[in-house]
Amino acid sequence: MTRDLRPTDVIRLEPDSVRMLDQRKLPEREVELVCRSSAEVATAIGELAVRGAPAIGIAAAMGLALAAIKGEDLAEAEATLRRSRPTAVNLAWAITDVKRDGLRPDELVRNAQRIHTDEVARCVTMSRHAAARFPDDAVVLTHCNTGALATGGHGTALGAIRTAFDLGKVRHVYVDETRPLLQGSRLTAWELDRAGIEHTVIVDSAASATIAQKGVTNVVVGADRIAVNGDTANKVGTYGLAVICERRGVPFDVVAPTTTIDGGADTGASIPIEERPAEEVALHSPVYNPAFDVTPSDLISAIVTELGVHQNPYAPALADAVLTSASIRT
Ligand code: MRU
Repeated sequence: MTRDLRPTDVIRLEPDSVRMLDQRKLPEREVELVCRSSAEVATAIGELAVRGAPAIGIAAAMGLALAAIKGEDLAEAEATLRRSRPTAVNLAWAITDVKRDGLRPDELVRNAQRIHTDEVARCVTMSRHAAARFPDDAVVLTHCNTGALATGGHGTALGAIRTAFDLGKVRHVYVDETRPLLQGSRLTAWELDRAGIEHTVIVDSAASATIAQKGVTNVVVGADRIAVNGDTANKVGTYGLAVICERRGVPFDVVAPTTTIDGGADTGASIPIEERPAEEVALHSPVYNPAFDVTPSDLISAIVTELGVHQNPYAPALADAVLTSASIRT
């Protein structure tokens, strides 16, 4: 039996709190985390109770609305939320967008709900575009978690897999475990299981051999920030997947909403990469723990947004996409 996650199961704004499915506890326990201030929402983002670029943006927008409801200092709340994670541009985008009609509680609440609804709608649309690129009988490999948990509903790359599965096009999914926090083996596997999609978890270092030996037909991933030239920051390990795909002639697609394109970043060189605590990796040795890497655009077969399929050269089409989607939203 499939058990769909509703957007409000992932995250929702209540009159006194922001409530979210605590992703740190999955898959063992389904626990709701209750945040009663914007600072608690910022902590939840920083500690990955809520994670994934679009979901981080939704949480931050709801956090600012909660700050207004509670009479908090809004400038301070905004600064704390903006600092909570650096790489996903959806965070900064959502905090700016939620304020567009004003700073009254009712205005912020309405816009936070709209951002959530719109992100899910964008996911459904981009998933249709991306699924159309899947071959019949696809054997797909994906990295990290890009499903309903990461987006507030449906998903980007995992949304495309779900849509393609519903069209009868997916035979099997290989899931990178995604070191060190296991978003793949804990979260993606959990979502695929609920959706009734056959899958196998692999350690990240088995991805090259799996692509070479298991008939992988396509690799799909999400994004945290896309520069105008198409360079794409996503969960560390994504770059290596793109390299092996080029070597093997396997299509490598990035699926993400236009809210993940940073119109101010000409190339990936200006994307800030989050470094996370050493304890996530090892306790007794020096550690380098970047949470993301940047895949050069020439390794990406297509960047699929809600507006359609974009291919190299990505500039100026991606810059136009940001403007087009902004005008659709106003
Ligand atoms: O550190 P995380 O778990 O927030 O990283 C998430 C990713 O890298 C996702 O691939 C990306 O945010 C896209 S989510 C649709």
